[in-house]
Amino acid sequence: MSSVLFQMLRSVSLKRETVPSFTEYPFTIPAVRHLDEIEFHAGVTFFVGENGTGKSTLLEALAVAAGLNAEGGSRNFLFHTRETHSPLHRHLRVVRGAKRPRDSYFMRAECFYNVATEIDNLDVADAYGNRSLHEQSHGESFWTLLSERFGGGGLYLLDEPEAALSPSRQLSALALVHRLVREKAQFVIATHSPILMAYPNAFIYLLSEDGIRRVAYRETEHYQVTRDFLNHVDASLDALLGKDDLFEDE
Ligand SMILES: Nc1ncnc2c1ncn2[C@@H]1O[C@H](COP(=O)(O)OP(=O)(O)OP(=O)(O)O)[C@@H](O)[C@H]1O
Ligand SMILES: [Mg+2]
Repeated sequence: MSSVLFQMLRSVSLKRETVPSFTEYPFTIPAVRHLDEIEFHAGVTFFVGENGTGKSTLLEALAVAAGLNAEGGSRNFLFHTRETHSPLHRHLRVVRGAKRPRDSYFMRAECFYNVATEIDNLDVADAYGNRSLHEQSHGESFWTLLSERFGGGGLYLLDEPEAALSPSRQLSALALVHRLVREKAQFVIATHSPILMAYPNAFIYLLSEDGIRRVAYRETEHYQVTRDFLNHVDASLDALLGKDDLFEDE
């Protein structure tokens, strides 16, 4: 039997026949409308692409379809403060492997505050470095979550985790993700970070106006734009901003 059967999430596809109308959100989003089948890597799968291409919509629907709380957090968290998630999860066919996740977590960047409150309320701070996440900075608390709470055999869906992390912490996050993947954790990550998406043991899916396709790391705009900018900062700024009196003293 192929080892792929033992990963937790194997693939997702759109149950096209159940979609009420392709003229209503979220089925108007090209990446959703053209969603055939996405195969997940046993380690890490990235969703990348321009703002508004549907990464969060897809990740959230996947989280709900996999039984995770749509506002972030694990299966133990049953809090609901809003009902804005789309009905997409009802129209997804999620194929799971033989292995059940030992742990699972969905992190929706903008709802991290709610998750921190819930952790305080549940009095489970021990698992989070023994300090309320509210008393830690955004990056510190996210790092605590990643390093103290996540473990082998877990299924982790993360939306733009880089929002909290400095570049050095993003590099450390790569090493941590690698350790967890070696211990059979599986990640699906929506990201804009050219550092995170460099993780070599991964599938990268590019969402765009044309739908979804798998791309190589160096093919991504994130890699190319960041590389070109950092290699030619002055020329890039000149091209973008032109020569301006405002910059003369500098
Ligand atoms: N509740 C909603 N009703 C209608 N349209 C919505 C709703 N939520 C999101 N959208 C639209 O769906 C599209 C996809 O949004 P989504 O948040 O999934 O994009 P994204 O790829 O995660 O973008 P970003 O990189 O900025 O996070 C956007 O055009 C957005 O405006
Ligand atoms: Mg998003």
